[in-house]
Amino acid sequence: MSITRRNLLQSASALAAAAQFAKPAPSDRITVGMIGTGARAQELMQAIQQHPVAEIVSVVDAYKGRVERAIDRTNGRAKACRTHHDLLADKSIDAVVVATPDHWHRQIIVESVGAGKDVYSEKPMTYRASDGLDIIKAARAAERIVQVGSQGVSSLGQQTAKEMIQSGKLGKVTMIQAAYNRNTASGAWIYPIPPDAGPNTVDWEMFLGPAPKRPFSLERFFRWRCYEDYSGGIATDLFVHLCTTIHFIMNAKAPARVMAMGELYR
Ligand SMILES: NC(=O)c1ccc[n+]([C@@H]2O[C@H](COP(=O)([O-])OP(=O)(O)OC[C@H]3O[C@@H](n4cnc5c(N)ncnc54)[C@H](O)[C@@H]3O)[C@@H](O)[C@H]2O)c1
Repeated sequence: MSITRRNLLQSASALAAAAQFAKPAPSDRITVGMIGTGARAQELMQAIQQHPVAEIVSVVDAYKGRVERAIDRTNGRAKACRTHHDLLADKSIDAVVVATPDHWHRQIIVESVGAGKDVYSEKPMTYRASDGLDIIKAARAAERIVQVGSQGVSSLGQQTAKEMIQSGKLGKVTMIQAAYNRNTASGAWIYPIPPDAGPNTVDWEMFLGPAPKRPFSLERFFRWRCYEDYSGGIATDLFVHLCTTIHFIMNAKAPARVMAMGELYR
């Protein structure tokens, strides 16, 4: 067929229209598995769903109610896996989101990169500092991406602060004060326990994983930040955000010295 100006323009506009409406071909999609679909993961899912090429295809969680909620968010398209091992065995999944309690992060990230997946993990990257070395080693060996979300550094406020400090506008910075203030039960991680939660809907062994064996406890399951077995408390839950921000705006790698004090004030 000879190309006339007219049919060239027609096919160009048809292509443009097709590009606008076409779904990416399967090979252009990034298929995502959600490991842990609790409070944070539900927010992350909304963000992922706005991404033009990402598609949440599988989910796994230790509480039935959250699996159902996550599947609903995908209009029933995502499938439920029984364990994260099943999800990682699925070769069609490109990337995973790790949004479990902190004591699971190291193991699941290491297994995920080992299974060839790129990883977005929630902060804190580690439950213990030494976990970080294992994660870095595994990510390098598998040549996979591991991104850890402490999202403040993506905000305009922190980027502007960084530019101001790095440009020298503020002179030599000798002290940074950073703080969180919370004065509610949920701020103290006393989260509500769903009425249908119990041994039939909560997989206790799956939650415990690498943590010490304990009898079934809904308080521990839903309020895990209050227990040392699963969380570093304020240090890993909130301070990690402040610390990440300070490192980011100062271009610092690690502190030379640290000191801490604490108390439970009421
Ligand atoms: N970036 C942020 O601002 C931000 C905010 C909130 C939470 N977080 C982080 O997100 C993570 C999750 O916190 P959350 O508030 O959503 O807690 P959550 O308790 O609401 O959710 C955790 C979920 O993980 C599930 N789970 C436990 N073991 C599992 C396993 N082996 N496999 C699959 N799922 C498992 C639990 O059933 C639970 O639903 C934490 O690491 C937390 O620090 C980050």
